[in-house]
Amino acid sequence: MQRQTCILLLFVSLFSISLSASIASLADLKKQVIDGKIPSRGVNLGGWLVAEKWMTGGSPAWNGVPDDIANKGEYSAMKYLGHEKGDPQFDEHRRTFITEQDFKEISEAGMNTVRLPVGYWIVGFDHTWGSDVDSWKVYAPGGLNYLDKAIREWGPAHNILVLISFHAAKGSQNGNDNSSPEVPGEADWFGYKENVNNSLDAVEFLAARYKDEAAFLGKFFLS
Ligand SMILES: *[C@@H]1O[C@H](CO)[C@@H](O)[C@H](O)[C@H]1NC(C)=O
Repeated sequence: MQRQTCILLLFVSLFSISLSASIASLADLKKQVIDGKIPSRGVNLGGWLVAEKWMTGGSPAWNGVPDDIANKGEYSAMKYLGHEKGDPQFDEHRRTFITEQDFKEISEAGMNTVRLPVGYWIVGFDHTWGSDVDSWKVYAPGGLNYLDKAIREWGPAHNILVLISFHAAKGSQNGNDNSSPEVPGEADWFGYKENVNNSLDAVEFLAARYKDEAAFLGKFFLS
């Protein structure tokens, strides 16, 4: 009995040593990357939280969606599928397209950073005005859980820093599939103050949510 307790304690203390070591080194890594002492070596995880057909052709997200619709982005695909079919398909996509195993392999390959494109709908609210305050509701909910996992669990577990790319703005900044336009081909972001306001609210929300996380390196805006 005593011996088992001893082994258990040893295990617990080794576990906590390795846990604190990895957290300390992640914070240190972040500082050194920000100070320019260590280069940020990274990879882009495109197509995951903003699904783009050309990068994710075999994904369950697009099951039953004709190519000409899927090629217009996530909004068009979800509008076509509806929540009953689309939510489980997009959830399966998010659950399987990028997993903790990818973070492990990225780390083993000698990299220290990932870039994660997200869309305005990930925050799950729109406090603006105008005729389009419900467009975020067309998307499958729950994307934020995966961003949480990446920043709060997988990054710290594998010493990977995360750059969020605010990649798809309400109204669309370029009309292309990567910004998930409601009217494919139209870029209606800058013409409408409410869309710009929505972007600022979303970016503020993400900054407040992750500012104290060791793995959160920062954000790109519309890049
Ligand atoms: C956006 O508009 C809402 C509602 O008018 C306001 O509460 C919010 O502060 C605005 N956000 C920004 C970043 O200006």
